[in-house]
Amino acid sequence: YGDSSQKIDYVFKVVLIGDSAVGKSQILARFARDEFSLDSKATIGVEFQTRTLNIQHKSVKAQIWDTAGQERYRAVTSAYYRGAVGAMLVYDITKRQTFDHIPRWLQELRGQADKNIVIILLGNKNDLEDERAVSTEDAKEFAQQEGLFFLETSALQATNVEDAFMTVLTEIF
Ligand code: GTP
Ligand code: MG
Repeated sequence: YGDSSQKIDYVFKVVLIGDSAVGKSQILARFARDEFSLDSKATIGVEFQTRTLNIQHKSVKAQIWDTAGQERYRAVTSAYYRGAVGAMLVYDITKRQTFDHIPRWLQELRGQADKNIVIILLGNKNDLEDERAVSTEDAKEFAQQEGLFFLETSALQATNVEDAFMTVLTEIF
């Protein structure tokens, strides 16, 4: 995953947001290091990881920021969104509440971030089909209304994680 000596043409900041325990940190771990942990701890404050990719023959350093879904552990939001060109809005397909909170996250994002930010809605944990509480159709319809990209992902099975980042990074590009 990327060679640190490589020359960088662009650096793109992308932020992850959504309720606690939806899998933001594991989506990032999957993308940045191809790792996954079942006993992931709640994020406190802000963390970020980078991965350098080639997009249309340019080397793009994706700098992905991850913060706590829990209010009390969250960082100063204005600093978190500053300079972000992409955002991943994550819910858990097995927890209806995490989807119902998406409009609130979207409102914060639209209030704080650049108006041209590229946003993708991600329904994570789609390996847990038996526990599904949010239909793909409902989410798709919401995304369409709001003008967001949309994918269902599984950080555990590595489903669509690469695609999700590529969708955002390519659109920014
Ligand atoms: P906060 O840091 O508190 O905001 O939570 P988070 O959104 O970063 O959640 P985190 O990535 O820590 O994941 C929470 C739990 O869900 C952990 O037990 C993960 O292992 C699990 N998890 C994350 N992604 C998946 C997935 O795709 N499938 C399944 N089955 N579990 C997942
Ligand atoms: Mg986290």
